[in-house]
Amino acid sequence: MSNQLVSGAVTVVAGGSSGIGRAVVECFAENGSIVEFFSVDSSANDAVAKELVDRGYDVRGSTVDVANPEEVKKFFDDVSRRRGRLSALVNSVGIQRYGTAETTSVQTWDEVLNVNLRGMFLAVKHAVPLMRINGGGSIVNVSSGQAIASQKNVVAYTASKGAIVAMTRAMAVDYAAENIRVNSVCPGSVDTPMLRESARSIDPDNPDRVIAEWGMGHPLGRVGEPREIADSILFLVSTLSSFVTGADLRVDGGALAGISLVAPSASSDSA
Ligand SMILES: NC(=O)c1ccc[n+]([C@@H]2O[C@H](COP(=O)([O-])OP(=O)(O)OC[C@H]3O[C@@H](n4cnc5c(N)ncnc54)[C@H](O)[C@@H]3O)[C@@H](O)[C@H]2O)c1
Repeated sequence: MSNQLVSGAVTVVAGGSSGIGRAVVECFAENGSIVEFFSVDSSANDAVAKELVDRGYDVRGSTVDVANPEEVKKFFDDVSRRRGRLSALVNSVGIQRYGTAETTSVQTWDEVLNVNLRGMFLAVKHAVPLMRINGGGSIVNVSSGQAIASQKNVVAYTASKGAIVAMTRAMAVDYAAENIRVNSVCPGSVDTPMLRESARSIDPDNPDRVIAEWGMGHPLGRVGEPREIADSILFLVSTLSSFVTGADLRVDGGALAGISLVAPSASSDSA
């Protein structure tokens, strides 16, 4: 049952055609926001927009490559013409590429950093003037648990995610006086097409087994659902978090709360 936590808002969701971004589009529409989303995948954009428009929501999808500064600017110019203001921006675009410092090419490094990090910078650059017209706003950048603790073989991705958390703090400080809050979320493993692609690369015949195994690495015993991340983002955008800015919220089933070293058992405590 919806509480309409963002009623009357105009929200842009970058990366809204799939996974976490797609769940944010649906969650925000159900909670009363107009939603303008974009992604690089035009057929997925059309399918998501059609599904939600058919359900009666004011949702529009556009095809934009966030690595292209002109395309990002044009998208926000169009939103400005259509909506006149902006209350919220959720940056969920991300790509994963594998490699160490030696095995990652300069081209791949630039690709990951341009899409994951520079793309969020560009979206914020063009969103803030529209939030000023709105009298304030809220921005959520989707980082990752990898910003805090890294797996092996993901040097470019991890660098981009750590930088997102630091950039978020800088933006929070820059715009607080204008009533624009900026926060990040750090999800653990979430069952999205991105995660399934990784699972298939390990076991093409049984990605569910791999995902269940990854789930056991989270104290809650499972990976997250996209809607669980979207609900946390809704909290960060809504007035329920009106005193929260510059924060990085872990939404990870406890994955980063523990360490894998085993302590002695309690029975050795004779006190
Ligand atoms: N799934 C996870 O386990 C997980 C965990 C932590 C963080 N994240 C982060 O969450 C965010 C969303 O990931 P997801 O799992 O939903 O992935 P996903 O692949 O399902 O969705 C990614 C979205 O980004 C869009 N996109 C990709 N490249 C683009 C580009 N150049 N320009 C515009 N749009 C582009 C895609 O079209 C898609 O809409 C990413 O930033 C990812 O790093 C995911």
